Amino acid sequence: MDNKPDLKAEFDFRDLLRKPHKLFGYSYIFFVLILSVLGISYVQNLTSIGKNSVPPMVVIDSSSFVKDIPFQTARSLPPIDVMKVATPTPELVDKGKELFRTNCASCHGDDGQGDGPTAVTLTPKPRNFHLLGEWKNGSKVSQIFKTLQEGIPGTAMAAFDYLPPLERFALIHFVRSLSAGHPTDLQAELLGLETTYQLSKGSNSSGQIPVKKAARIIEAETAPEVATVAGMVGGLERQAKSAGLQVFEQVARDRKRIFTGLLFNGSSAVQSVDQLVKIVTAEPTQLGFRAGVVRLSASEWTALHQFLNELKSRRGSL
Ligand code: HEC
Repeated sequence: MDNKPDLKAEFDFRDLLRKPHKLFGYSYIFFVLILSVLGISYVQNLTSIGKNSVPPMVVIDSSSFVKDIPFQTARSLPPIDVMKVATPTPELVDKGKELFRTNCASCHGDDGQGDGPTAVTLTPKPRNFHLLGEWKNGSKVSQIFKTLQEGIPGTAMAAFDYLPPLERFALIHFVRSLSAGHPTDLQAELLGLETTYQLSKGSNSSGQIPVKKAARIIEAETAPEVATVAGMVGGLERQAKSAGLQVFEQVARDRKRIFTGLLFNGSSAVQSVDQLVKIVTAEPTQLGFRAGVVRLSASEWTALHQFLNELKSRRGSL
C-alpha cells in the first residue's frame, strides 16, 4: 500500500474538499466575472426594472375597429323569368349541388343533413334538409328564396343575397331535391317574388371598396402635395411663430393626416371657423388631432383657422 504514493495524490478527495479551487482550476475567475457583470447591470437597471419597463399597450387609432364595408366588384345580374326557373330541371339541381358544396356544406353538410364541420359549434343547428317541418321560413321555393335573400337573423344562417338569383334558384332546387314532399308554391307566391325583387329586370350592382382602402388611395394621390405643405410648415416653424402655428403645434398629432383631411379633396373644413370646429370635433383623432383639441378656446380656434386657411391659400398659389 505504502508504495503507491502517486495514486493517493491523484484521488485525495479530502484534500480536494479542503482546497476546492483545485477542482475548478482557475475557471472560477470566469464565474466571478460573469456574476459581477450581471450584478452590475442589474443594479444599473434597477429603476426601470422596478418601474415595470414593459410599456402599456395603447390603442392609438380606434377607427381600425370600425367595421368597414366589404369589397365588391361591379357586375350586372341577368334578368330571369321567375315562373320558368321556379320549376326544377336536372341542370338546375346539378348546378345547385355544386354551389351547395362551396357555399353551404361547411354548415349544412355535404348531403344537407345539417352535419357540416362547423355545425357542432352552432346553436341553433343548421337545418337538416332531409327533414320536413319546423322550417322557420318554410321550404317552398319562394320561402327559401327569402331565407337566402335575408338570412335568418340571430343565427349563423347569413344572407346569400350576393349570389346571382339564378344560382339561388339552383340552390333552392337542390335543397328541395333532398327530400320528397315539400310544399309547392302558389302562383301568386312566385309572382310575389317577382314584384318584391324585380327579378325580370336584372340589376346592375355598382362596385364598392372599403372606406379605409378609399382613404388610402386618396392619401396616396395627395401625398406629394401634402408633403409640400408639411415642408412649408417646417419653414414657418423656423421663423417667428404665429399664434395659429403655435396652436397647431400643440394639437396636431399626425400633421400629414390633418393636411390630407382638411386642405385637400375639396374639404370644406376651413371655409369658416364654425365649420372647422364642427368637422374637427366630430372625429378629432381620426383627422389626426390630439383629443385635447376639443378644449381649445374660441380665440385659439380662430387662430388655428387662420393658420390653416393661410396654408390652403399658399398651397393654391404654389
Ligand atoms: C355558417 C353556417 C351556415 C351556412 C354557410 C349556411 N347555412 Fe343555412 N342555416 C344555418 C343555420 C344555423 C340554420 C338554422 C337557422 C334556424 O334554425 O333558425 C340554417 C337554415 C337554413 C335553411 C332553413 C331556413 C328555415 O326556413 O328554417 C335553409 C333553407 C338554408 N339554411 C339554406 C342554406 C343554403 C342554401 C346555404 C348555402 C348557400 C346555407 N344555408 C349556408 C347555417 C348556415
